[in-house]
Amino acid sequence: MSYTSVKGMDDIVPPQSCLWADIEKKARHIFESFGFYEIKTPVVEKTELFTRGIGTATDIVEKQMYIFTDKNGDSLALRPEGTAPVVRAYIEHQLYHPDPYQKLYYMSPMFRYERMQKGRTRQHMQLGAEVFGASSPRIDAEVIFMLTQFYQAIGIENFKVQINSLGCKACRPGYREKLLAHFRHRISELCEDCKKRLEKNPLRILDCKNEQCQKVAVSAPQMTNHLCAECRAHFEGVKTSLNQLNVTFEVNPNIVRVLDYYVRTTFEIVSSDLGAQSALGGGGRYDGLVAALGGPDVSGIGFGSGIERLIIALEKKVPLGSATPQNYVDLFISALGPKAQAFSYGLINKLRLQGVRAEVDYDDHPLKTQMKKADRMNSRFVLIIGEDEMNKGEAILRNMNTKEQKSIPFGDILNEMEKNT
Ligand code: HAM
Repeated sequence: MSYTSVKGMDDIVPPQSCLWADIEKKARHIFESFGFYEIKTPVVEKTELFTRGIGTATDIVEKQMYIFTDKNGDSLALRPEGTAPVVRAYIEHQLYHPDPYQKLYYMSPMFRYERMQKGRTRQHMQLGAEVFGASSPRIDAEVIFMLTQFYQAIGIENFKVQINSLGCKACRPGYREKLLAHFRHRISELCEDCKKRLEKNPLRILDCKNEQCQKVAVSAPQMTNHLCAECRAHFEGVKTSLNQLNVTFEVNPNIVRVLDYYVRTTFEIVSSDLGAQSALGGGGRYDGLVAALGGPDVSGIGFGSGIERLIIALEKKVPLGSATPQNYVDLFISALGPKAQAFSYGLINKLRLQGVRAEVDYDDHPLKTQMKKADRMNSRFVLIIGEDEMNKGEAILRNMNTKEQKSIPFGDILNEMEKNT
């Protein structure tokens, strides 16, 4: 009997994992430069956090959550998204005290029981960031700017920033009525899903991928034409700030998002390299969510971006067994004979502590086999130490790129490698 991973939940093995580590490292660097601190929350939360936080009329809550009952009889869910847990932690640890302004980021697996396709898995790794306690449209633009800077830093150039405003408690209900009237009038033209969605969540019809629904949506009223004065001013502020930061964007009235907590700004960064699941990342403002989950009335804005989609956009699926710059070994020590083996064992672990990625053959194969092994590992250098070398206190250092080799005293190994790098 052999086992495979659960459908839609993939292993990330080397050397692909090196690429992931590189993306995570760059994300940390950029997010921290913008003043964000990392937060880690558990993979499992009480189910109610998501039903209240995300909204009962969303696909995530209706169909996609992994829910189970624990031995205590509590209903728990694997985290389908990161915002509600971060808000929960923000409230639980009173991170709003003494100043509500907090910037937090996370890199966490998310779980959604979805129909699988390219760029859509049942476990995905999300990089996310949340800002609490800042209502200015300047922060909305800054969060979008940071995300675009991150994409550029990892080498993704082909993307578009699309923004929208979903209004607020004051202006959205009136708009919703207008939208309902539009779709009720043409209900027969909608897909079965949208017919069901109509009364509960008419906004979601705007981003239905069904061609027929899209035709009906084209002539639908747009939220941006029905914003109250405050929301209009806020949206104008976001656009002005994005221009100030030289972020090219377009307004897309159909960016309604899959979660119910959004107000005012919503955005998605899309790429034509991705296929049907075209969003590299997305997010928006969720003023009111902190209060709805039992905290003070603090505003919030953030985004999430799945690493799997970044990898697709980078087109860097590295085939197993091939080298990436990250999986190079710096030095392979080929020790021949018991004395050299004992010496090398000490040396290798000393070199590792000095930051050299060093490997050795633990099975004491003959030199030829060891050289083949060094090659397979993509080692940059091989250090050959036999009985003779032990007696002289020297080793043969071979540069695997140039194939040059020379005898050097043990103490000069690092210097010599640096000179030849
Ligand atoms: P979301 O749009 O549901 O937003 O997910 C954010 C990103 O996660 C997507 O743009 C995509 O890159 C990735 N993603 C989502 N579902 C999948 C999937 N099934 N397979 C692969 N990748 C996926 C949120 O989750 C919000 N919490 C984002 C946010 C933070 N809004 C405010 N703050």
